[in-house]
Amino acid sequence: MRSREIYERGLEIIPKAAQTGLRSETHYPEPFVPETAYGCKIKDVDGRIYTDYHLAFGPIILGHNHPEVNEAVKEQMDKGVLFGAGLCELEVEVAGKLIDLIPSAEMVDFVNSGTEATYHAIRLSRAYTGREKIVKFEGCYHGWHDYVAFNVNPPPDKVGKIYPHSKGILKAAYDTTLVVPFNDSDAFKELMAEHHDEIAGVILEPIPHSVGAIIPKKEFLKTLRKETKTYGSLLIFDEIITAFRHNIHGVQEEFGVIPDLTTIGKSMGNGYPIAAIVGRREIMSMVHNGVLVSGTYSGHPSGLAATKKTIEVIERDNVIDHITKLGEEYRKALNDLIADTNVTARVVGYKSIFAIQFAEGEVVDYSSIARIDKEKFKRFAAEMRRRGIFFTPNPMKRCHLSFSHTEKEMNEFLDAAAEVLSIFA
Ligand SMILES: Cc1ncc(COP(=O)(O)O)c(C=O)c1O
Repeated sequence: MRSREIYERGLEIIPKAAQTGLRSETHYPEPFVPETAYGCKIKDVDGRIYTDYHLAFGPIILGHNHPEVNEAVKEQMDKGVLFGAGLCELEVEVAGKLIDLIPSAEMVDFVNSGTEATYHAIRLSRAYTGREKIVKFEGCYHGWHDYVAFNVNPPPDKVGKIYPHSKGILKAAYDTTLVVPFNDSDAFKELMAEHHDEIAGVILEPIPHSVGAIIPKKEFLKTLRKETKTYGSLLIFDEIITAFRHNIHGVQEEFGVIPDLTTIGKSMGNGYPIAAIVGRREIMSMVHNGVLVSGTYSGHPSGLAATKKTIEVIERDNVIDHITKLGEEYRKALNDLIADTNVTARVVGYKSIFAIQFAEGEVVDYSSIARIDKEKFKRFAAEMRRRGIFFTPNPMKRCHLSFSHTEKEMNEFLDAAAEVLSIFA
C-alpha cells in the first residue's frame, strides 16, 4: 500500500509523521495519506474514498475544494501573491464586512492562525489593563502558546488542578494562568473577588467544542460579562470554531453577550489560512501603537480572498440553515439508535457539530467528559473508517458537517453506526 510506504518514510523524517500531534492520531487504525478532497469526500493515495466528518478540524464549512472560493483565490493570486507593504483594498473590504457582521467588532486585525489571534488578544488585554493574570476554563483550547496551554483535556485524576498541555512551558505561565471549571459561576465569582485587580482578561470558547460540546448556561455567560465589567478585566470570546459555522454573527449574538475582544478563524476562509482579532476600538487601537502584532504573512491576500467569497456563499446559500438542520437530524437519529442498541453512549453537539461519547449523564463541564470510554471510541472510529466514514479517533473531538453533506451521507453514516454499535451492544 502506498499509504504505508509514504507513512513509514514520513515517520523517519517528520515527528510522528504529521504536522500536528492531533493530526498524527488519524494514522490510527492505519496510516492516512490523503491525496485529494472534494465536497464532503476525501480520497487517499490508495484510492480509498471516505465521507469526511473531520473536515480538517472544522474550517471546511462549504465543502472541500469549493470551486467559487478557489476561483476567487486564483484571481487574486494572478494579481499578486503577497504585497507585504501598506494596505490592500481586500483588507479593508473584508475588515468592513466583519465589522458589519460581528457585534463586538469595531476594528479588525488579521493573522494566519487561531493561536496567533488568542496570543494577541491576551497580550492586548494585558497592555490595556496593565495587569498580568488571565482566566481560562477547563476543557477550552485556545492554541498552543504558553499563556493558554493548560487544562484542555487533563486526565481524570488531574481535573481541577493546574495541568500543562505540554512540556517546556514557562514557569511564569503557571502563575499567571488561572483555571476555572466551565459553567461554574460561583467559582468564577470567588476567583474574581480574590484576584480581580490582577486579572487582565478572561478567555473562553463560548461553546467548548475542543472537548466535543459543552453548552453554556445562559446565566454563566452573563455572569462573566457582569463580573469582568465590574472589575475592569476584558472578556475575550474565542469564536474560532463557532463564528460563521454556528452563526454568521458569532454565537455572541444568539447568547446575547458581547465580549470586548473576539478571536475568529477556521470557517471564515473555508480552509485557507486566516484568522483575526476583532474588538472594541479603544482596545484595538493599541495594536501597532505600543502593542506589537506582526507577521510577514498576516492579511495574506489568499486568505482574504477566500474569506470574502466564503462569507458571500454562506449568506447567499443559507449555508448555516442547511448544516444546522442536518446536525439536528444526525443527533436525533443517533440518540434513537443508541436507545435501540442499549449501548452506554450519548450524543453531544450544537448545530452542525456532533460527537458520540461513550459515557452517561449530562455534560455541564469538563469533569463530565474526563471519564468517557476512550478505547471504545477509538474502536468505534476505526470500525466507521472501515465502512467509509472518516473522523478522528480522538474521543474528545467532534464531527463537523459541511454544505456538501446531504441526507444521503447521513443515511450512510447512520447505517454504518447501527452496524458498529450493534457489535458493541
Ligand atoms: C477554539 C480554538 N481556538 C484556537 C485554536 C487554535 O487555532 P489554530 O490551530 O489555527 O492555531 C483552535 C484550533 O483548533 C480552536 O479550536
